[in-house]
Amino acid sequence: MYIPSIVNVEKAHMGGYAVPAFNAEDLEMVQGILEACEEMRSPVIIQTTPSTLKHFHTYEASALVRKLAERTDIPVSLHLDHGSSLDLVREALDEGYNSVMIDGSALSLRDNTALTKEAVSIAAPYGATVEGELGTIGGKEETSNVISYTDPDEAVLFAEETGVHMFAAAIGTVHGFYKGLPKLNFDLLKEIRERIDVPLVLHGGSGIPDDMVKKTIELGIAKVNVATELRFEATKAVREALKDEKIMDPKKFMGPARKAVKEICIRKILLCGSEGKA
Ligand code: 13P
Repeated sequence: MYIPSIVNVEKAHMGGYAVPAFNAEDLEMVQGILEACEEMRSPVIIQTTPSTLKHFHTYEASALVRKLAERTDIPVSLHLDHGSSLDLVREALDEGYNSVMIDGSALSLRDNTALTKEAVSIAAPYGATVEGELGTIGGKEETSNVISYTDPDEAVLFAEETGVHMFAAAIGTVHGFYKGLPKLNFDLLKEIRERIDVPLVLHGGSGIPDDMVKKTIELGIAKVNVATELRFEATKAVREALKDEKIMDPKKFMGPARKAVKEICIRKILLCGSEGKA
């Protein structure tokens, strides 16, 4: 089933679990993700960043994910992660994505609000879901390296003004692996959850200890993004397979990558508590 992400994220928001959002870079990652979700009966959001889209284009990701979604009875959404412009949002929607993020987090509150509001109105005729972000999540993704925590007063204004469907709050996570333990601000998350009723998204889901991720879900996170761990495990599996220098067929090293992705997705599904929720 191919359905907008908010349908499942809203259920998770009400039900106290989270929908896993897995970043895919290629065919085998999509296959590994879907195999895991089918086996665990979990809803899933498959997402691509702007940098991924230079390799795996919106029309390619959409052709693949939508077709595979139609062949399965678990709910699948295709999401633009960290959408960097309204043009890219329009392109993704025109190509059939049913969920988009517009990332105006590097802008002032006023400009981010205007941009996100515009994305919400662009997405409306498509019936697509929109995610916005306020505050910055550190790390190597499209934005800054510095974490600036979401201000709860601003979050309330932003949610009301934009009508955004999902909200990425900056609570101390970073994209990529952590040096040492992440310093998550659980009190801030609790306050944001109490003050706005928009489902909350955890970015930077790789490398956070399981008990911390569980706590964020208990405190109201309804979508958990995981990218780096999938990329890392897929690459590790390819490297390992290619130690056999006789290999000259991509199936022989991409197959193990797909299996590695599947295994990590199963772990993350159990962490999100989304098993059996399809
Ligand atoms: P990680 O790469 O840390 O898993 O972050 C994923 C993410 O938040 C994508 O938006």
